Amino acid sequence: MIYLDNAATTLHKPDGVIEAVVNAMQTVGNAARGAHGASLGAAGTVYDTRRKLAAFFGCPRADHVAFTPNATAALNIAIYGLLAPGEHAISTDLEHNSVLRPLYDLEERGMALDFVPADRRGRVRYEDFETLIKPNTKAIVCTHASNLTGNALDISRIAEIAHRHGAYLIVDAAQTAGSFPIDMTAMGVDVLCFTGHKGLLGPQGTGGLCVRPGVELRPLLRGGSGVQSHNRHQPDNYPTRLEAGTLNAHGLAGLNAAVDYLNREGVEELCRRERELTMLFCEEVSAIEGVTVYGDFSDKPRAAIVSLNVRDYDSSMVADVLFTDYGIATRAGAHCAPRMHAALGTTEQGAVRFSFSPFNTEEEIRAAVEAIREISQE
Ligand code: ALA
Repeated sequence: MIYLDNAATTLHKPDGVIEAVVNAMQTVGNAARGAHGASLGAAGTVYDTRRKLAAFFGCPRADHVAFTPNATAALNIAIYGLLAPGEHAISTDLEHNSVLRPLYDLEERGMALDFVPADRRGRVRYEDFETLIKPNTKAIVCTHASNLTGNALDISRIAEIAHRHGAYLIVDAAQTAGSFPIDMTAMGVDVLCFTGHKGLLGPQGTGGLCVRPGVELRPLLRGGSGVQSHNRHQPDNYPTRLEAGTLNAHGLAGLNAAVDYLNREGVEELCRRERELTMLFCEEVSAIEGVTVYGDFSDKPRAAIVSLNVRDYDSSMVADVLFTDYGIATRAGAHCAPRMHAALGTTEQGAVRFSFSPFNTEEEIRAAVEAIREISQE
């Protein structure tokens, strides 16, 4: 199989990740639930992963990295923890349902919500963030890069606008964590939400949020924390405030090993490799008659994603042919990004999304191009 569905989950993990999970499953207990060796082993693994991720994302404090099962859970914690009825939020057409659905829910409960529109190439105008600001704007919530077009937003620029108006910035880094260099402090991010199983090259069931010290998020979940058991409330201190229930120490051991790999290889180098593959694929498929490529491929940072359609063929049909006839795995349909599809004009047809990882090769890219060429000629 040629696996080109890395924006959904990266399939190929670096050496050491699987071994770390297996080793943790054989040795660690429940973090913060005992003082015996197995429990302390889990706590050590979890803390070491917090420490590495804080350094990796430029979060000033390791205890402000809270773990969740995925980016969706992190975004729910950030959005419900910061926003409330009566306040105003700004988001964009690029968003995934992990941002949209919590925001729509809050809107139904009385929060005001506005969207920065995207054009037919999935681009926003940064002036629109400023225009939409109101006196009660509490937060801008936006993706770092679209999971459909791969277009990246200029987060520092959005942070400057948010902060100038006293608003917070929550960033969905599901498509960029591990694939882009991210320094949340330098970029001005207040809450950075990430998942472990995509660009970070770790296991599914891992993810979290990095909270800038000074940002107070209300807890979304309440429950066992292993500390202050007689307190009727969720403990106040981070990260316990945002973590209820047993943590995935097994998965976090794998994520820890994955971050070691990223640090060894260098995110900038991995990003450069992914970009080369992305641009090669984009240039080749764009030249095929009948192929429409979506997104902005000018000389800007972007996620390693190319979404396209072949003529007016149904995108799911094309993805099925790619897999059954060519062994190429892609993702078709709506990608949980309804506003982005509406902006691109692909609500009915969907799109076939190709997404790359540093483990893909030029031969795989060329095989995918040839497959699209043949399908377009049928
Ligand atoms: N959010 C993931 C994707 O875009 C699953 O495919």
